[in-house]
Amino acid sequence: MSAAHQDLIDPFGRVIEDLRISVTDRCNFRCTYCMPEEGMQFLDRSKVMSFEEIEHLARIFVERYGVKGIRLTGGEPTVRAQLPVLVTKLAALENEHGHVDLAMTTNGATMRLVADGLREAGLKRVNISLDTLDRAKFHEMTRRDQLDNVLDGIEAAKEAGFDRVKINAVIERGVNDDEIVDLATYGREQNVEVRFIEFMPLDATGHWMNDTVVGQDEIVAKINEVYPIEVMPARGAAPADRFRYLDGDGTSAGSMIGVIPTVTKPFCGDCDRVRLTAEGDFRTCLFATKEFGLLAALRAGETDDQLAARIEAAVATKWAGHQINQVNFTRPTKSMSQIGG
Ligand code: GTP
Ligand code: 5AD
Ligand code: SF4
Repeated sequence: MSAAHQDLIDPFGRVIEDLRISVTDRCNFRCTYCMPEEGMQFLDRSKVMSFEEIEHLARIFVERYGVKGIRLTGGEPTVRAQLPVLVTKLAALENEHGHVDLAMTTNGATMRLVADGLREAGLKRVNISLDTLDRAKFHEMTRRDQLDNVLDGIEAAKEAGFDRVKINAVIERGVNDDEIVDLATYGREQNVEVRFIEFMPLDATGHWMNDTVVGQDEIVAKINEVYPIEVMPARGAAPADRFRYLDGDGTSAGSMIGVIPTVTKPFCGDCDRVRLTAEGDFRTCLFATKEFGLLAALRAGETDDQLAARIEAAVATKWAGHQINQVNFTRPTKSMSQIGG
């Protein structure tokens, strides 16, 4: 086990403990709240971090700064070839907290094919996107007719024995807000925790508007009418507020839901997250307008001390929080698929 780490602390006293790494900006879906139908410019392969480069940078965060959790994101992470090779490398990283809590966020379309390999390589948790249970609407929202593959992928993830399988549902008014209760029912029946996510202004097409957001209070009220729920104790740094069904056991995944209230109740005050994009740029907020080129510095031959100095300088610029709905909010020029969610 490595020596004691140094906390990575931002100007507001938040300790950075969670690193989200985008392994590719490519995706096999084209969700309307994320990507355009066509014309997305993807990174040239040579610009994307290699597994060795990802491991090198991740090791600094884990060993030097005590980061506890790493989440692999995309685009869609499973479109990256040989992903289990990377998982093996990252799962081996440890600090005095123990081995890193290694998780992935995926659209689930290929889960049946990859779940066992990823689990064996050391991936601990997966979150899978599922915004609708209606085949035609699924096709409209993702621009792919793949609902059955995703439902089967969720099943495969459960069978593979991940610690917890969570479902992410982005709710957009007039699109799938009529399915909030159906999605809750699905979670209860399948024993998975469904998390309802407020639509954020990170869609490549720029159709986000304030009234397309379905807020936490409305989501909770709709579910509560059918399945009474109560709020669970504080969630720490995780973005989801959690609620449990009054008729459930309160511990199984299907007895609770989460709501990620980015827009109506920002949780930035508790944020412990930083991000690396697929091209190795370091971002201190999902909505950051500035990036710090860590991969470029690594490729230029900088030492770990020099890279660490860049990381600390970047963290010193972390904002108190995003300003969606305020006059000075500037949309990031990147979409969710380019940042990694
Ligand atoms: P766990 O709680 O560890 O299971 O993961 P997570 O919820 O942090 O990760 P996931 O990738 O499943 O994210 C779920 C939703 O939360 C996505 O829509 C993310 O974009 C959103 N999210 C994650 N981190 C942040 C953040 O720092 N700020 C905001 N506003 N949203 C975030
Ligand atoms: N608003 C909220 N969540 C989004 N995601 C993608 N785009 C958006 C958006 N505009 C979610 C996906 C996935 C995670 C990586 O981010 O549904 O769960
Ligand atoms: Fe792909 Fe995820 Fe974006 Fe959908 S939300 S297009 S699955 S990166």
